[in-house]
Amino acid sequence: MNVLLIGSGGREHALADQIDRSPLLSKLYAAPGNPGIASLAECVDLDATDHNAVINFAKDHDINLVVIGPEAPLVAGLADDLSDAGIAVFGPSGAAAQLEGSKDFARAFCARHNIPQPKFASFETVDAARAHLTTHYPDGYVVIKADGLAAGKGVVVSDDMDQAMEAITMMLEDNRFGDAGARVVIEDRIEGTEASLFAMVDGENAIMIGSAQDHKRAYDNDEGPNTGGMGAVSPAPALSDALCQDAWDNIVLPVVRGMAAEGMPYRGFLYTGLMLTKTGPQVIEFNCRFGDPEAETILPRLKSDLLSAMATAVEGGLGHTDLRFHDGAAVTVVMVNGGYPGAYDKGGVINGLMPEDGDAHDSTDPTIVYHAGTAEKDGAIIATGGRVLAVTGMGADQATARQAAYDRVARISWPNVFYRKDIAKG
Ligand code: GLY
Repeated sequence: MNVLLIGSGGREHALADQIDRSPLLSKLYAAPGNPGIASLAECVDLDATDHNAVINFAKDHDINLVVIGPEAPLVAGLADDLSDAGIAVFGPSGAAAQLEGSKDFARAFCARHNIPQPKFASFETVDAARAHLTTHYPDGYVVIKADGLAAGKGVVVSDDMDQAMEAITMMLEDNRFGDAGARVVIEDRIEGTEASLFAMVDGENAIMIGSAQDHKRAYDNDEGPNTGGMGAVSPAPALSDALCQDAWDNIVLPVVRGMAAEGMPYRGFLYTGLMLTKTGPQVIEFNCRFGDPEAETILPRLKSDLLSAMATAVEGGLGHTDLRFHDGAAVTVVMVNGGYPGAYDKGGVINGLMPEDGDAHDSTDPTIVYHAGTAEKDGAIIATGGRVLAVTGMGADQATARQAAYDRVARISWPNVFYRKDIAKG
């Protein structure tokens, strides 16, 4: 198979590594890819927002499957346009991707299908949103979400009324997120431990890929601003087998059935963010793609052929497929440019990378280094992004995996490097 992978982050490096292992693979292209992916694929300068350019590339290069990594092209309907052009694609349609692209859609969908979630209401005007806050959340202890995609910045977890009102003003009055914030969802703050569950879905059937716990805050002890993710551990420590089954039966499967019943069959990776409450798992959010860095944490332990499973999912045959994983645990530490998620200096030369980094085929090495925000300059790899590298350690248990990840992290440096020291500390 000739495969075109869309995306450029650590998640796509982890996907590329798995696709590269498949005996089905003839040639892998990545658009745009990154220097880590370039050791596995031919990186091509294709703009994913130009759907015709992607279609023409796929036709010219006899692409048998397009795999779309990030949410923005999915929500923008790239999968629909590729399918309409007769090109097989792994990733949900624009309609199905609304599960991530519209928080209001996702909440209303769950309400229609009795899927456990917090109480919510949606608003398009400042006055109505403020009145709802005053009546229902006089202490300001509430969650406010921009409806659309906001690059991970559209959720305010508010502790008091000033914060809550400020969030409403920022989204509905100051239009900080443009159209994505033209509607807000106001919902109960629910208590518990967070965990995420990942599924591969073919429109009718779902198979479980694994679970993870993300570390979203920038600094140790879960302090500082929210980020795209500073690290992750898999399996999610708080998600017992019983809770996992509960979430699968009462959330993931009803989502798959409900989307099919409503004429929006879901195909692709489905990421369900859960709050494990006293009364059971509830939905925090859905994402229409794999997590980042959760992909870097979960995929290195995969024994089965990911490309074969993705091709099967496109055909609707996942009912007869399963995915097998190596036992044990994995921990990912994300190395960032200091200052992220705010402004940061970039361009420092990264020392300590090894030629075998990014190659999970090396079974003697319990670590793997995925590139997220790097570039090549004058023969050196430089740190160009906020999130620069995702370093995963694997082991028989979480503590061993954690030690392996941090030992590898300690051998990598650049002038403005920063990372959390307490990922998966337990
Ligand atoms: N790590 C969170 C996300 O991928 O959205």
